[in-house]
Amino acid sequence: MAVQVDARQLNGVLDRLNTTGCIVTTEFEGRRDGCYISYIVPSSMDPPRLMVHTSHMNLTHELIERSGVLAVHPVARGQEAWVEHFGQQTGRDVDKFASVASRPGVTGSPILVEAFGYIEGRVLDSMVCGDHTARLVEPLAAALRDSSAVPLTIFELFARGLVTPNTQFGNPWPAFVPQGPQ
Ligand SMILES: Cc1cc2nc3c(=O)[nH]c(=O)nc-3n(C[C@H](O)[C@H](O)[C@H](O)COP(=O)(O)O)c2cc1C
Repeated sequence: MAVQVDARQLNGVLDRLNTTGCIVTTEFEGRRDGCYISYIVPSSMDPPRLMVHTSHMNLTHELIERSGVLAVHPVARGQEAWVEHFGQQTGRDVDKFASVASRPGVTGSPILVEAFGYIEGRVLDSMVCGDHTARLVEPLAAALRDSSAVPLTIFELFARGLVTPNTQFGNPWPAFVPQGPQ
């Protein structure tokens, strides 16, 4: 059956799937990198598993491919600068850890000291999805350091004009911004 998806309609719906963006880091043979990732989702409760999707364009993707380990750090409101720092420049050009404090975790992946929490784990399986690879991750360590931190969602980034959605198909974002100071 030949099906042609209307890209505008498709992006209009995809733009309405909210996530908390995370900094995903890894280390391979002394080379560290990390990038901002919105394609992250829990995928099993027992045993606990999550899926992390990395773009084939990214150095972080290449290093995870080799290291087989990573750490996931949800970004909090107030840490908007991390979206640009980790999400709009590549570790091929800059050492992103020169100005962001980190320490090695149990897998060797850099753990961001200022993150409100993190999950560190190893890749159990990978699947090429298209221009991203899905990675099934087994958690090996986790910590929630600040339970009062407000996770910075993609909808909030849209609403505050910090990131442009794929389409301007209506504008529901402000309704999803949590109340409180920004
Ligand atoms: C809002 C936003 C969402 C992003 N989501 C993802 C994602 O889900 N997966 C991914 O691999 N990159 C994602 N990126 C892109 C990377 O963060 C970006 O390409 C980064 O500069 C790659 O750095 P690196 O080459 O050092 O790995 C996103 C960027 C932004 C701004």
